[in-house]
Amino acid sequence: MATNRTFTMIKPDAVSAGNAGAILKMIEEAGFRIVAIKMTQLSAERAGQFYEVHKERPFYEDLRTYMSSGAIIPAILEKENAVADFRTLIGATDPTKAAEGTIRKLFAKSIEANAIHGSDSDENAAIESSFFFSQLEQY
Ligand code: RTP
Ligand code: MG
Repeated sequence: MATNRTFTMIKPDAVSAGNAGAILKMIEEAGFRIVAIKMTQLSAERAGQFYEVHKERPFYEDLRTYMSSGAIIPAILEKENAVADFRTLIGATDPTKAAEGTIRKLFAKSIEANAIHGSDSDENAAIESSFFFSQLEQY
């Protein structure tokens, strides 16, 4: 059964470019409520754990380096049909293929430095949320 929460992370390229505020504004205007949020930085080891599903992929080492290169903003978001609607809002992984008006089309720099993460399933949304937040920190 679909739940009403998803997990996101504004990635280092978007935070360092000063786009976090504009991205959060788009997220709220699309009807998502922020229920947990913070700024933090991943070690290469933690970044590798987060993206462990990709450990056999050729881009895994680059992804670990990039995701630990600067501050990130993880957040938990609430909305009906949150996971699917949020993937629509962020657009395709490769910004050259992302639809007009999506967050990645507007702010991503490359297929790797693509501004934002969005969970791909309810199960992963729960796992990824608990990677960064305890229950008590959610509102
Ligand atoms: P995400 O998990 O971050 O929301 O992105 P996604 O589902 O759209 O894409 P996924 O296939 O899960 O890839 C995870 C992240 O790895 C980087 N990537 N680099 N160099 C490359 O070819 C490549 N492909 C993927 C991106 O940062 C991508 O978001
Ligand atoms: Mg993914």
